[in-house]
Amino acid sequence: MSSPSFLSSGTSRRSFLRTAGLTAAAMPIMTEGRLAWAAQQQTQTRRQRPVADPNGAPPVMSVPEDHIAVYAGSSEPLHFTVLAFSSDSKPYVTADPSYEAGMWAAQAAGAKVSKWPLTETYAHDVKAMVAASPTAGVIYICNPNNPTGTLTPKEDIVWAAKNKPAGSVLLVDEAYIHLSEAPSCIDLVQQGQDVIVLRTFSKVYGMAGIRCGVAFGRPDLLAKLQRYGMNPLPVTAVNAATASLSESDLVATRRKIIADTRTSTFKWLDAKGYKFIPSVSNCFMIDTGRPGKEVIAAMQQRNVFIGRTWPIWPNHVRVSVGTPAEMAAFQTAFEAVMSAPAAKPASA
Ligand SMILES: Cc1ncc(COP(=O)(O)O)c(C=O)c1O
Repeated sequence: MSSPSFLSSGTSRRSFLRTAGLTAAAMPIMTEGRLAWAAQQQTQTRRQRPVADPNGAPPVMSVPEDHIAVYAGSSEPLHFTVLAFSSDSKPYVTADPSYEAGMWAAQAAGAKVSKWPLTETYAHDVKAMVAASPTAGVIYICNPNNPTGTLTPKEDIVWAAKNKPAGSVLLVDEAYIHLSEAPSCIDLVQQGQDVIVLRTFSKVYGMAGIRCGVAFGRPDLLAKLQRYGMNPLPVTAVNAATASLSESDLVATRRKIIADTRTSTFKWLDAKGYKFIPSVSNCFMIDTGRPGKEVIAAMQQRNVFIGRTWPIWPNHVRVSVGTPAEMAAFQTAFEAVMSAPAAKPASA
């Protein structure tokens, strides 16, 4: 890994971080062949940065610097957006199951939470979410979704941005987007829409404990987050993000490792006849056909710790894609657990 140079290069800390934001924004809309060029371009100082792709491809997406705010992780801007835009008269609208942190923040703010089941294809039901409340404060779309690892088509998100109630903000959480080939929604920010897009270095970059995340939004929207806290940044995070962004093949390599392990796990699940929801991310859900909490406990007895259930789907467990060795251990334990009879339901 090349050593971080921003501290000594004369590039200011803030301008470096904006560059980091630009790179994080650019990567998922790139083809793999262009990743190296993009990373190289984005890690240059502005003055040095080439303006054209030497291979003739169109320029990568860039976002004006005042549309980017860098935080110690994406949880802060997620919570702050919910606190800033939802209230007792402005509900928080979310899919179910989905990542729940925004919902907890909404509850802390005294906002009503409006939850909408995923569609048959496990996308966000944008029509239902947009129609949920004429006074909605925040409509949250997690893409790919946590815990299902499934995608909501870009055209549905574009439609939601166009048709949502006036005064509401569409919050698009792209924490896992690097793991998929899905198009980003950062272009909606560039178009000046009421959209905030979140990115994090916690997932594919493996920096959850180091803390670096980015919010993309119109300056007037980002300004509203500031009253909930400034964004002090650990210098370790700045250094680690710099080093990560200078690794031109990091995203593509890790995405492939996870995709290969995920695909072989899905092949095994299929071959054994277990029901699961196909995912494009580093987690997926299995329909255990029995209370998921029992399966989780039985797996723990075998020293294999999988994720949890969501209240709407008590018979589904979330599983993270680990290393091939971890997934082999998972398979052995899961088969043993599932071949044991399910516990009898307690009589009423
Ligand atoms: C969908 C999603 N968004 C945001 C976060 C917050 O991550 P961080 O604060 O580490 O950036 C998580 C963490 O699990 C997540 O799953």
